[in-house]
Amino acid sequence: MQKLAVVTGAARGIGFGVASRLAADGFSIAILDVDVDAAHSAAKTLADQGFTAQGFQVDVADEESVLQCCVEIKSSLGQVSVLVNNAGVLRDNSLRNMSVSDWDLVMSVHLRGAFLLSRALQQDMVSAGWGRIVNLSSTSATGNRGQANYSAAKAGIQGFTKTLALELGKFGITANAVAPGFIETDMTKATAERMGIDFEDLRKSAADIAAVKRTGLPEDIANAVSFFVDERSGFVAGQVLYVAGGPHV
Ligand code: NAI
Repeated sequence: MQKLAVVTGAARGIGFGVASRLAADGFSIAILDVDVDAAHSAAKTLADQGFTAQGFQVDVADEESVLQCCVEIKSSLGQVSVLVNNAGVLRDNSLRNMSVSDWDLVMSVHLRGAFLLSRALQQDMVSAGWGRIVNLSSTSATGNRGQANYSAAKAGIQGFTKTLALELGKFGITANAVAPGFIETDMTKATAERMGIDFEDLRKSAADIAAVKRTGLPEDIANAVSFFVDERSGFVAGQVLYVAGGPHV
């Protein structure tokens, strides 16, 4: 079985942390991102460390773009065995001020994106009789003020993940979700900026309410993804693991 992992939104943040960890775990990595220059430079960073990695441009919300990208991955790196649906965007607003386009964009990138990539790449895994799909959900899946679009998408990701686990389990493929709490990335920096508060203040208040009294790093999420992807995790399917520095219900 070829060890090739596709990670979407991997040019930075959690996606890059996951790509780095899976590279260290022995996978060749396809770094997919809408920002092609950033994808290439992230791939170069891994290649400079001696790993096999290549950057690809994709808009995960766009069917043509996803199909084209999957053809390119196949021709340059071969058969895909692991897919991590990580690409994401925020368009936070109160319900009454949320535009239809901000609703649609968030649903498309998270939900349609995970659907399009999973549908396009499952065939490689079915043929090999082995595969791993890991989807990024969020603690916001259980509701978060100002995130009607995002929390709906992240709750949707959980139902989607469980359904993939049910449909694909018999082919040796597991699907699971990781639901992070506050992770220090450009996404949470942008949230602080939108709220008009200093990132360090936002980070401290998130650390205060976490049981472990700190915020998360991309490596914390990468470790959970690595567990789900591990060959020895084949009996773990359809699960949602909250990685949030404390219990989350
Ligand atoms: P980030 O904003 O730092 O990185 C997201 C990446 O996705 C960027 O490289 C961006 O260019 C890419 N991307 C955006 N739209 C895309 C599209 N249409 N097609 C392809 N790539 C696209 O975000 P971060 O923090 O690394 O988040 C990664 C995932 O983790 C997201 O799904 C996010 O919702 C989830 N998450 C993050 C949390 C956090 O505290 N940072 C908490 C819970 C979940």
